[in-house]
Amino acid sequence: MTQLFDPLKIGDITVKNRVFMAPLTRMRSRQPGNVPYELNAEYYAQRASAGLIITEATQISQQGQGYPATPGIYSDEQVAGWKKVTDAVHAAGGKIFLQLWHVGRISHSSLQPNGGLPVAPSAIAPTGEVLTASWKMAPYETPHALTIPEIKAIIGDYKKAAENAKAAGFDGVEVHSANGYLLDQFLQDGSNKRDDEYGGSIENRCRLLNEVVDAVVSVWGAGRVGVRFSPYGTFNDMSDSNPVELFTYALGQMSKRKLAYAHVIEPRSTSAGGNDKVVDGLPNTSSLFRKAFDGVFISAGGYDAQIAMDTLAKGDADAIVFGRLFISNPDLPERLKAAAPLTRYDRSTFYGGAEKGYTDYPKMA
Ligand SMILES: Cc1cc2nc3c(=O)[nH]c(=O)nc-3n(C[C@H](O)[C@H](O)[C@H](O)COP(=O)(O)O)c2cc1C
Repeated sequence: MTQLFDPLKIGDITVKNRVFMAPLTRMRSRQPGNVPYELNAEYYAQRASAGLIITEATQISQQGQGYPATPGIYSDEQVAGWKKVTDAVHAAGGKIFLQLWHVGRISHSSLQPNGGLPVAPSAIAPTGEVLTASWKMAPYETPHALTIPEIKAIIGDYKKAAENAKAAGFDGVEVHSANGYLLDQFLQDGSNKRDDEYGGSIENRCRLLNEVVDAVVSVWGAGRVGVRFSPYGTFNDMSDSNPVELFTYALGQMSKRKLAYAHVIEPRSTSAGGNDKVVDGLPNTSSLFRKAFDGVFISAGGYDAQIAMDTLAKGDADAIVFGRLFISNPDLPERLKAAAPLTRYDRSTFYGGAEKGYTDYPKMA
C-alpha cells in the first residue's frame, strides 16, 4: 500500500501520490462554444487528491471534435473557462494535465467546420455508429484522407492548443495517441493505408505522432508532456498487424524525447467508455511495454487497489490511473488508503447532463 501513496517525480513536477485520475469524457461543457465552466471546475477540484488529474480529452480545433459538448482549447472563451478549472484544482492542492485530442475519423459532418467530412489518414470508415451534433446516432461517414498541407496545419493546431493550455494554467499536457483517434489512426495499419511519408513503414506511421509531440514539446519542454497509447485496444474499430513492434518503436521514440511519462491502457478495458465488459486473453501491456520506455510509466485499465499495488510492486508501472472509480469516488485516494467501501458508478450519467452523476457523488462519511 505504501507505494501507491509515495510521491513521484514525473518530468519537471513531483506529485503527491501514484493514484492518478484518468482522462474521462463527460460531455458537459457549456453551450454554445464547448466552454468549460464553474460546474467542471467544481468536479475537478473535488478530485484534487489524485496525484495527477488528466483532464477529459479536449479538442485542439473544431475539426478535432467528435462528440457533442466535449470541451475545446482553441477559443479565448475556452482558455478562460479552463483557467477556472486549473485555479480551482490548484487551490485544492492538485496537479492537472490537459489531454490534447483530435478525433480524426471518429466524428460526424454535423460537428465539422462547414459540415465537411471528418478527416483521417485514409478514406476508410470505421464500422458502427457515431453520435451527431444533435445527440442522435448515425452511421459513420467515409472520411476525407488528409493531404500533406492539411497534416501540417493539424500540427500547427496542436502547437496552438499547447500554447493555449499554458495560458490556461495547466501543469502540463498529455498527447492523446490512444483509443482509435487521429494519432492512433496514423499509427495502426488497419486505418493507415497511405503510401507517402506518413504511411507504410512503422517509422512513417509514427511520423505524425513524432511531429505533434515535437511541436507540443517546443511549447512546454519535454518534462511537462506525457503521451497515451492503447496497444491491442479494439475500441473505435482499431487493429494493427504487429502491435509489439509498432508500440515498442513508438515508445522508443517518446523515450528519446525524454517525455515526462508514457501512459498505456490495458486492452482488457478497451471499451470501458461504453460497457463494463472485460476482454480476456490479451497481453498485459504494462509488463509487455514497460521496458520500451525509459522514464515514468503509468498504466490504466481495470485496476482495483490490489491489482494496482501488485503492479507497482512488480515494477510494471510507476503510477496507476483510475477511470470509472474516480467518477463515483471523488476522494478515491483517501478511500483506497483507508480500505473504505467504494461507491458504484451510474453509467447512465457518464455523458451529458449537469450535476447529477457528476458533482453529486459524496466523499467518505
Ligand atoms: C466515461 C468515460 C470516458 C472516457 N473518456 C476518455 C477520454 O476522454 N480520453 C481517454 O484517453 N480515455 C477515456 N476513457 C478511458 C479511460 O481513461 C480509461 O482508460 C478506462 O476507463 C479504463 O480505466 P478504468 O477501468 O479505471 O475505468 C474514458 C472512459 C470512460 C468510462
